[in-house]
This record gives sequence, structure tokens and C-alpha cells, in this order.
Amino acid sequence: MHGEVDTPAASVAHDATASLPPTCQEGPAARPARAALSGRLRERMARDFQGRLRDEWGGRFVTHGRSPGPQAVRLDGNDYLSLSGHERIVRAQIDSLRRDRDIVVQSGVFHLEDSPTHRLEQALAAHVDAEGALLCQSGYAANVGLLQVIADADTPVYIDNLAHMSLWEGIRAAGATARPFRHNDPAFLARAMRRHGPGIVVVDTVYSITGAVCPLREIIEVAEAHGSMVVADESHSLGTHGPQGRGVCAQLGLSHRVHFITASLAKAFAGRGGFLTLPQELRYYLMCHSFPSIFSSALLPHEIEGLRATLDVVREADGARVRLRAVTARVRSRLAALGYPVANGTEQIVGLEVGLEADTLALRDAMEARGVFGAVFVAPATPRDRSVLRMTLHADLTEAEIAHVERVATELAPAFRPWDWASARRQGREAGARAGAGSGSGSASA
Ligand SMILES: Cc1ncc(COP(=O)(O)O)c(C=O)c1O
Repeated sequence: MHGEVDTPAASVAHDATASLPPTCQEGPAARPARAALSGRLRERMARDFQGRLRDEWGGRFVTHGRSPGPQAVRLDGNDYLSLSGHERIVRAQIDSLRRDRDIVVQSGVFHLEDSPTHRLEQALAAHVDAEGALLCQSGYAANVGLLQVIADADTPVYIDNLAHMSLWEGIRAAGATARPFRHNDPAFLARAMRRHGPGIVVVDTVYSITGAVCPLREIIEVAEAHGSMVVADESHSLGTHGPQGRGVCAQLGLSHRVHFITASLAKAFAGRGGFLTLPQELRYYLMCHSFPSIFSSALLPHEIEGLRATLDVVREADGARVRLRAVTARVRSRLAALGYPVANGTEQIVGLEVGLEADTLALRDAMEARGVFGAVFVAPATPRDRSVLRMTLHADLTEAEIAHVERVATELAPAFRPWDWASARRQGREAGARAGAGSGSGSASA
């Protein structure tokens, strides 16, 4: 599709790639000029982005470091139980691809109540102790589609500051007002609810950049006291937490007090997809009003069969869960002993908040040069001056790999001085305040 051209200057065809880094440019000008981007868009890129790309990222795209070789220690994925390529899951997908040739590619709203899709929904609902579930194309679609329907312009939505972007997008799609509350702070939430009235409270059970656990019981108590509904995103706890990987809500015996659970199936389930739980009375209403549900096509049969097999594998993966917790405890305590500020979380996601983007990239590059690959998180995933190198742990990390990560962290600490980062000072202040208040924040590790 040709783009709109909204200023005269932009209507002159020109090389729209001229300002891109050399690696992004095309070869000699043998082809006809492409339709030009609008002048307004080019101005916006120049104003908001190109300085950042050039000066802070050194002309490289921020999340693109080096290619990890076969010996690399990969701490940049979300396959916490190391299920990718699991024989039973692959077999289920292949069998379905061979068998289910007569597929109809369509929106999930057309799938009947006796379809494999619906059977998977029932199995997922039972797994997390919910009445019903709706399968979605992704965790992102689940969050946007749910909030778009359950919130509206008159519903305040109280959302933890660190909740996932898709939840904020859902609030926007609903035309509702977001009332952010301080991360993991039920007292702050209570004050906001006294001021703005009942609505919807939105949290992640395990936060995606820090690995912090939500104080879910306290949050629910505040929500109940103010007659509000609760949405809990279990993307980073489904499969890893609770008995048989049922998640934090089930682990704490709180499933019946949470109105909606959402989750990505692209984390511990290592697949594509997501789901949300819901009471049966809401099912058709939501299916009829949730735009991602209506206007985007559903998962394919082999994806459904793969996820069905994955659910069985996840349930039986106690060994991997135990190993993941042991790896988490060991890596976290070693990093803490070396002076890295990791008190922002407790679980399998370790977020090193380096601060400025250029400094985070320098740490990423130094680690990658030594064979350890994390993932860079910058704005809009974090505030501009609070960028993070995230390291996600998984159950298949070997002793040798863990020892290597520890060696690299030890070697780099004197140069990067993590104890001097603003995040280290902040965590120190927070620990002091907690000690003063005589309270602690609990881990939900099962
Ligand atoms: C907490 C949380 N919710 C939702 C999502 C979106 O999941 P998906 O990748 O399946 O769209 C993510 C993924 O980044 C996440 O971390």
C-alpha cells in the first residue's frame, strides 16, 4: 500500500532510506524510486529517534548485539522449563499437520463448542482453577481484548506501574482512565481507590522485567474492600509456579477471588498463543465485543494440538520447576554477593537496571563478548534512564553454564561498578524503609 503524503516537500520522491544506517540501505539505484514517506513522519523520526539511534546506540538497532554461537549461554528467552523441541509436543504438532488437512482459516468466534479449540480452553481453565477460558492469538491479544470489553470510559482502571504494555493498551482500547499505582504497593492502591472509586485492578503476578512477585493477597483485599474486579496476568508464572505449574493464583489459593487471569503461552509453554479466563456468563458477550477475538484469525489446528500436549508436559514438569528454582536462587545470591542490584525481584527473571541506554548496551556487549546473552530493555519498555539488561533463567542451564555466567559477572563487576548504579542506591533506600517499617515482601516460589 502506498503511504499518504501530507506535505508538499514530501511529495518529491527521494531516497527514503538515506538516513538509515548503512546496513539497512539497499544496493545500487537500479530500481525505480519507492513511494516516499510523508514529511511529517520523517520529521518525527528525525526528532524522536535518529539522534537516539546514532548517539546512544552507535547506529545499531538497540536489541541487536552479536550472533550467539553454539557455545553461547542464552539468557534471553522465556522458555523457562526448556520445552522447545520436546518430543511429545513436536510429535503432536506433526501428527496434526499430517492429519488435519481440512482446516478452515478463520476467526475463533466461528469455532464450535465441540472443537479442539474449545477442549483446550476447558483444559486451560481447569488447570488454573477457572470456570472458563478463551484462547487468544497471543498474551498481548488476550490483555487488549479483555480490557477493551470489561472496562469503559466510566471505569477507573488501577494498574501497577510495572504491568505489561498490553494491559495499558487494553485500557486505551476501552477508552478508560488508567489510574497507575506504585509498584507492588497495596497501601498506595487503597488511597487511589478511596479517591476515585470502584473499578478494575490490574497486576502481573510475576513482573516481566524484574522478576518481582505481586503481593496478590493484599492487592485482592484492597480490591474487595472497594468492590472492584481483579485482573491478574500470569504470563511469567503459568507453568513455573504453583502445583503442576498452575500459577500464582492457584498456589496462593486465590483463584476464586481473581475475576480474570490472562497469560501468554509464549513463555513457559514455549508456543504461540495466549488465553484469558472468564465466567461462562461473560463468554458470548466478550466474544461478541472483543476486537482481537472477532477481527483476527485463530490459532491453527497444529498449534492447538501442540499446546494441548504442552499442557500435559507442563503438569508433569516438577523436576524442571525444582531445578529452575535452584538455578534462580543460586544465580540471584551470587549476583547479589558481587554487588549487582537484584533485590528488585526474586524469581527466574533477573533485571539488571543499569540506567542509561548507552551503559546498558556496554554491559550487554561486554557480556556477549564473553559468551553470555541477555536481552536489552529500553524505552518504551522502561523509563528512558532506567534501561535494563534482562537475564532469564531456565531449567536446562548446566552447572558449567551457570559457573560461566558467575565468572563473567565477577570479571565485569569492577569495570561496571553495579553497586554505584542509581538502581542500587534506590534498592538500598527501599530496603532501609522496609526494615524501618518492620515488613518484608514475600516470594511466591513454590
Ligand atoms: C506479562 C506479559 N503479558 C503479556 C505478554 C504478551 O505475550 P505474547 O508474547 O504472547 O503476546 C508478555 C510478553 O512480553 C508479558 O511479559
